[in-house]
Amino acid sequence: MSKNIPPQQLHIHIPVLLKQVVEQLAPRPGESYLDLTAGYGGHARAILAHTQAPERAVLVDRDQMAVDALKPFAERGASVIHDSYAEYAQEASEAGKRFDMILVDLGVSSPQLDKAIRGFSLQRDGPLDMRMDQRQQRSAADIVNRTSKTELAELLELYGEEPKKQALRIATAIIRARPVTTTEQLANVILSTHRGAYQKTHPATRTFQAIRIVTNDELGQLEKLLEVVPELLTPGGRIAIISFHSLEDRRVKRFFAEQANAGYEASLSLLTKKAIRGKLVDDSNPRARSASLRAAVKK
Ligand SMILES: C[S@@+](CC[C@H](N)C(=O)[O-])C[C@H]1O[C@@H](n2cnc3c(N)ncnc32)[C@H](O)[C@@H]1O
Repeated sequence: MSKNIPPQQLHIHIPVLLKQVVEQLAPRPGESYLDLTAGYGGHARAILAHTQAPERAVLVDRDQMAVDALKPFAERGASVIHDSYAEYAQEASEAGKRFDMILVDLGVSSPQLDKAIRGFSLQRDGPLDMRMDQRQQRSAADIVNRTSKTELAELLELYGEEPKKQALRIATAIIRARPVTTTEQLANVILSTHRGAYQKTHPATRTFQAIRIVTNDELGQLEKLLEVVPELLTPGGRIAIISFHSLEDRRVKRFFAEQANAGYEASLSLLTKKAIRGKLVDDSNPRARSASLRAAVKK
C-alpha cells in the first residue's frame, strides 16, 4: 500500500497557512510527527508526503467526527488518538515520547462551524452545544443557563473582550431570556442589546467566542500544553502553533518571548521573530484571515 494518504473527498476543511507550516516544520524523510489538532488531516497529509513515515505519526483530536475522518491515516500505520491535546501531551511527555515535529492548529474546523447540529455558528440555527468533544457533559447551554449574571458578564469581558458595560448588558438580557436553548435565540438576545445598525461583524460574535472558549476550556488546554512542549521535542525538533484570536496568540507569543529571553536556559530558539499573519500571506482561504503562525526549534 502507498504511504501517501488519499486526498480529502470533499475538501471539507481547507488547512490554513499550509505552505508556511511546511516551510517552518521543514519535514525530512523518516521523521516523526505529532499533530495535536489533526482535524481533517490537511496539514498532516502534506507533512507525511515529505516524511513518508506514517507509522511515526501521531494524530490527536477530541472530536469524534474528525477522528472518523482520520481513518485513512490509521490504515497507513499512523496512531490516531481521540483525546484532548493537553491530556495527550502530558501523558506523552511523562512516557518519555519525543517528536521531530509538532503542529498545533487551534480553533474550530469548518465542519464544526458548518454543521448546525454542533451549535458553534451564529449563522446556522442549532442547539446551543459547542462541545468539541461530544463525550463531554457540559455544553454551551449549561454555561448560558446556569451561570450567575456577574460571572456571565465577567466571562464575556475576559474571553469575548466585550467592554464592561456591554458585557453586563448582554448578561442581563441573557438572564431575562433564559432558558436559552438555540444559537439563533442567543444571537437574537444579544442583537436586542445592540443600539443602531451593525457593520461587518454580528454583535453576538464576541459572546459566541467567549462561550465557546469556556465550554471547551480552550485557554486552559493551551496553558497546560505549553508547559510540556519543550520536553516533547527531540533536539533540533520543530514546533508550529497557529492561533486564531488575540487571547490565544498572546499566550503563545508570551511563551515564545520567555524562551527567547531565557538565554542559556532556553530550550527553544524562535524560527519566527514575528508571527506570520494569514491575512498577509494566505488569500486562498477565508479562515486564514485571522490566523497567526509562530514556530520554534528545540536547541
Ligand atoms: C482548525 S482545526 C485543525 C485542522 C487540521 N489542521 C487540518 O488540516 O484538517 C482544529 C481541530 O482541533 C481540534 N481541537 C481543538 N482543541 C482541541 C483540544 N484541546 N484537544 C484536541 N483537539 C482539539 C478540533 O476538534 C478541530 O478538529
